[in-house]
Amino acid sequence: MRLTKIVALAAFALVSAAASAQTVKIGFITSYSGLNGNLGPYMERAVRLYIKQHQKELPPGVKIELIIRDDTGPNPDKARQLAQELVVRDKVDLLAGVIFTPNAMSMAPIATEAKVPFVIMNAGTSVITTRSPYIARVSFTLWQSSYPLGQWAAKKYKTAYTLVSDFGPGHDAETAFMQAFKEGGGNIVASVRVPLQNPDWAAYLQRVKDAKPDTLFVFIPAGKTATAVMKNFSELGLGQAGIKLIGPGDITTDEELPNMGDVALGVTTMFHYSAAGDRPANKAFVAAWKKEYGANETPNFLSAASWDGTAMIFEAIRQQKGKIDPDKTMAIFKSWKFANSPRGPISIDPETRDIVQNEYLREVRKVGGQLANVELETFAAAVKDPWKEQQKKK
Ligand code: PHB
Repeated sequence: MRLTKIVALAAFALVSAAASAQTVKIGFITSYSGLNGNLGPYMERAVRLYIKQHQKELPPGVKIELIIRDDTGPNPDKARQLAQELVVRDKVDLLAGVIFTPNAMSMAPIATEAKVPFVIMNAGTSVITTRSPYIARVSFTLWQSSYPLGQWAAKKYKTAYTLVSDFGPGHDAETAFMQAFKEGGGNIVASVRVPLQNPDWAAYLQRVKDAKPDTLFVFIPAGKTATAVMKNFSELGLGQAGIKLIGPGDITTDEELPNMGDVALGVTTMFHYSAAGDRPANKAFVAAWKKEYGANETPNFLSAASWDGTAMIFEAIRQQKGKIDPDKTMAIFKSWKFANSPRGPISIDPETRDIVQNEYLREVRKVGGQLANVELETFAAAVKDPWKEQQKKK
């Protein structure tokens, strides 16, 4: 064979190999800076770990490319701009990630216009999923945790004070808790909404102390914010005054427990994920995390959702043999079930594209010398977003 012919054949082989190799592009937006900017890596690491463990289950030749962007915290303009660029310039097949509700809300129209499936791995305000038929949520809603917590609290306490961050998830948490607490015969003594960024915790918590409620219900974004509340709660002596701190699991987020210290002991929360959960799938998840990222590292609920969201994306890739059709992808998401999530069995509600999962009643306790969100009971099984269930009846 003449040399030119050999070169030509080799070039042809290269081109066809490239054509048969499929790359699925995921535009992944989360926060690496700004408010609780330390949380982004808890999501990204989960996605990367899932890909590493499960890459071999993809159809031959199919690869995933993650294109990571920092939305700089609750910043809807920035998130919209990043999503636009990922869709138009990078031509991503899917959008995923997103910690903050305002960011998810601003990205929803882009998912709709471009027909790009958007997997929400945190943002928890109920209404988000109604903003685009291309959204599926694998995380949680605040209604899912705060409504059952209100039911539980009404059996234990007569009076409650609510304190929430003044944005979507805070409003949902407040409404859900208050509704259930009042239905159960409880009395709300006061409700306060505090600014999302840098509230004067001491001033707000002093007012709570003066009001002497049996319990204080708090929702604030997970992470460093939660530690600030916990420290102020303790320093002002609210615990000694007999006020019990309760909330969705965001207030005792797993990775912050060591920073909170013993002041967190005894705090009761309702949530769908704890790193201390003793399900075999969770034990394997936590062990794999520590092996990959270090013995002192722990996954949190953002990690669990990002892990599960990646599992859902893998299912869509497998069923379509690496070619992502937006409408087929959404159909696959709608019927997705995962018996082996670290948080227990989960599924997507086909009607609403929102997550269905268990809610666990938990208490911060010491286990082997370390603080942990110990799951006391499965308070409610296979919970659908209560807000959407109520809307249906209206
Ligand atoms: C949200 O913006 O939806 C959000 C942020 C932090 C949380 C929970 C929800 O811990």
